Amino acid sequence: MEQELLSLQDEARENLQQLAEAGQLEEFRIRYLGRKGLCSTIMRELSTVPPEERPRVGQLANTIKAEIEKLFDEKKALLESTGPSGAQGAGSIDLSLPGRYPERGRLHPVTQIMNEVCSIFEALGFSVAEGPDVEHDHYNFEALNIPAHHPARDMHDTFYVSEAILLRTHTSPMQARIMESQQPPLRVIAPGKVYRCDSDITHTPMFHQVEGFLVDTKVSFADLKGILTVFTRKMFGKDLALRFRPSFFPFTEPSAEVDIACVICGGSGCRVCKQTGWLEILGAGMIDPEVFKMVGYDPEIYSGFAFGLGIERIAMLRYGINDIRLYYENDLRFLSQF
Ligand code: DAH
Repeated sequence: MEQELLSLQDEARENLQQLAEAGQLEEFRIRYLGRKGLCSTIMRELSTVPPEERPRVGQLANTIKAEIEKLFDEKKALLESTGPSGAQGAGSIDLSLPGRYPERGRLHPVTQIMNEVCSIFEALGFSVAEGPDVEHDHYNFEALNIPAHHPARDMHDTFYVSEAILLRTHTSPMQARIMESQQPPLRVIAPGKVYRCDSDITHTPMFHQVEGFLVDTKVSFADLKGILTVFTRKMFGKDLALRFRPSFFPFTEPSAEVDIACVICGGSGCRVCKQTGWLEILGAGMIDPEVFKMVGYDPEIYSGFAFGLGIERIAMLRYGINDIRLYYENDLRFLSQF
């Protein structure tokens, strides 16, 4: 019996040494340590040992079983820590594995387009100005020739803070703020957040606009056309067709909406441009003399143009994104593509 126990120990030790993969561990465990394994079988045979020898042999059997368990646990820890190539030995590190790079952050697509728009206008001599998101009714509406009860207020879906204070619904109030405190000539762009109580696949309650305006003597619609042509071609490609469509804004006269040839179909008509071949990208016009009067400029001396564009919309056209809400869900699978 004692001899049997000692050879069981040797055999188990040798078998364990030859084990090279974690997948073989279970087979070993069942053979030696399982309920019907060799250790248990020997334990059951103890009853055949003469009573006076039983304590000694029993103790030996326990020691050997514990030893096999210990060796098994060690081998298991080793194989599991080094994987299938565990034959490399205790505590080794697999130097052939590629390293883990720290994740790199990047700018949000809206920020990227915003920066790009600003740098195009900066290259054209515009300076950048920022103003408050929480705005007076006066700058957001009154100073832009939109008095109380004017029907144009309806289009804005305004978030009011109090009767006279609101979240700005566009970046146009920066026209009034800057003209009020500075004298022409002026060439300014004003990027920032704007707010409207609206939410669906093309609207979010907060979005970004860039306002631009230029005031000097003898500024004409041709200047506006020239600047916007340079801008859209830098943004969307150099042979891009551009169309000025008559429109209305209370703070510009005449006003226009500017379309570019559809970036998806090139103008032949598709779902994105609703078969028209054109995509609207901004609003613009010659600054209304009423706006000049309110900031104290003489409309007989000065003229100017203004324009406003939505950043999310430009980014959607640029990247072919069809749901504006994707920008604000913070899903890294979406954001990391930019
Ligand atoms: N503020 C307008 C809007 O949010 C956009 C706009 C149109 C701005 C014409 C302008 C402009 O400066 O001239 O809908």
